[in-house]
Amino acid sequence: MIPKELVLEIRDRNDIENVIGGFVDLKRTGTNVKGLCPFHNEKTPSFTVFPATQSFYCFGCGAGGDVITFIMKYQNLDYADAVEYLAARAGINIPASSFGGEEKGPSRKRILEMNVCAARYFREVLFSPEGKVGLDYLMNKRKLSPAIIKRFGLGFAPDSPFSMLDYMRKQGYTDEELRSGYFEAISQKTNKPYSIFRNRVMFPIINTAGSVIAFGGRVMDDSKPKYLNTNDTPAYKKGKNLFALNYAKDLCGERLILCEGYMDVIALHAAGFGFAVAGLGTALTSDQARLIAKYTKKVILTYDSDEAGQRATERAISLLSEVGVDVKVLVVEGAKDPDEFIGKFGSAAFERLLDGSRSKFSYRADAVIKKHDISTPDGKLAASKELCAVVAAASSSVERDLNLDEAARLLSIDKKILAEDVERARRKLLKEEKNKLSLEAYTSARGIGDKINPDIAKNLGAASAESAILGLLLAFPEHRAAVASGKIELSPDDFVTAFGRRVFEAMMKLEGSELGFDITLLGEDFSPDEMGRIQRMIRERMMLTENGSAVLTASIDTLKFERAIQTAKDSGDKLAAFEAKRRMIMENKKRIHK
Ligand code: CTP
Ligand code: MN
Repeated sequence: MIPKELVLEIRDRNDIENVIGGFVDLKRTGTNVKGLCPFHNEKTPSFTVFPATQSFYCFGCGAGGDVITFIMKYQNLDYADAVEYLAARAGINIPASSFGGEEKGPSRKRILEMNVCAARYFREVLFSPEGKVGLDYLMNKRKLSPAIIKRFGLGFAPDSPFSMLDYMRKQGYTDEELRSGYFEAISQKTNKPYSIFRNRVMFPIINTAGSVIAFGGRVMDDSKPKYLNTNDTPAYKKGKNLFALNYAKDLCGERLILCEGYMDVIALHAAGFGFAVAGLGTALTSDQARLIAKYTKKVILTYDSDEAGQRATERAISLLSEVGVDVKVLVVEGAKDPDEFIGKFGSAAFERLLDGSRSKFSYRADAVIKKHDISTPDGKLAASKELCAVVAAASSSVERDLNLDEAARLLSIDKKILAEDVERARRKLLKEEKNKLSLEAYTSARGIGDKINPDIAKNLGAASAESAILGLLLAFPEHRAAVASGKIELSPDDFVTAFGRRVFEAMMKLEGSELGFDITLLGEDFSPDEMGRIQRMIRERMMLTENGSAVLTASIDTLKFERAIQTAKDSGDKLAAFEAKRRMIMENKKRIHK
């Protein structure tokens, strides 16, 4: 079995639009991406990819899921093979032990000891004559004080293929251990061992438990690669940690700054912003998003302002929103990153930047405005069309209204006029999705010939309440938390269809696990067709404005009443059935009048 964490990493490193785009001709329309469905014959595209949630759904045939589901269906592979396929595509090694082999080599504990020893060595070298170039670089070129250099435990790897290894061997570490810990490699040419980190300033990476888990090393000139980082070892997996979270975790309750680089974080901490962390060389992963959510509810993203940075920002926005973290975006102007900004303008200027950080919407709106020349009528029209689509896509009406204010201001168009366009765009969006859904619903929701969930026909009312409940739980972490904690009462026995019960059980089991719930992890236990159905339940909810806990409890009540009615009917007790129905109507009335 492939470890769940690895499955998520493989999923994260295979962008869905990119993967599907390799097989299907996709076109962007507003926030969505569409193409002709590869799973059924069609002339107008109903196959939709949702980059924000990294999912796809075909409104024509009901196929849907994540990138793994897509590969399973498209390449006709089972789950494990599809994961392996995507791992190979992203250049990720699945360790042999995942397939039942024995894992050999040093333990995590031994590697961690070795890392502490290495960190001490690098630091001693930095403050020795051999490390003078490194110390000069850090103090003069990067303007770091001795205090901050010590606080981050920075060091220097000497410009020698052997020094470090010799030292480590004297401390009792074998060559095999040094290779496992990513300090030593074997030269292709000479077949001799050499030290991986040479002539670099060294940044130890420390996890929240205070262990040194890895290193990053930077060259002091323009040679490549600029940074060299520890590869995966028994003590370190890429994409699971954040640089400086060991310090930031106690200071970030109110807000956390997430940036790209080691040096950004160090400059921020030095300038008094101790609540900054960096992502360590990869695009933000769902593991990192979950880790962040443990410590804070608000993140300010400050990635570089180049194109790669913008893409990284979009991805981080959706991953963090998914785990219930509020995201703001800080755009650094006049410098390429926070480090350079603070160097140029000082910490007070950065504080002002921080206070003025933008909401998700303003950030996106800004990108639209920049794309068009809004001083011309054509440019303004094009920009307003795109902005209206962005506003219309928000599912909360309060959010739409706030965003509308801002759009009107940005375009200097009267809000009332813009509101009409947004309403039109919204109606069109809803109608499109509804039409498509109901077309499919017509053939399947009646439960006749529904292969995926044959029980639907038994009790249509209950089954529809059930799918509303599952959609809410699948899409919103706060609802899952409420059920997991018992704040909202719901148990597998409440479900009427075997499929619904299975989805509920699998979801809640993951919710209670250390890793938490992630829809990708359902892929192991559900077929691609079932994943499509799960996706539909989510899409049906996303189209609606009301997704709060009141809707959830109302749906649970309906489910329970529908079941009571059915039971009474089945036992031939007409009076009991009538009574149950009456109570349900009363409950619903009460709710409406509240
Ligand atoms: N990175 C990496 N490997 C590289 C380049 C970058 O792991 N070859 C990671 C590092 O964590 C780095 C971050 O990506 O800190 C951001 O990269 P970049 O913007 O290029 O570097 P800066 O942090 O700005 O570094 P500096 O200011 O030292 O140039
Ligand atoms: Mn920089």
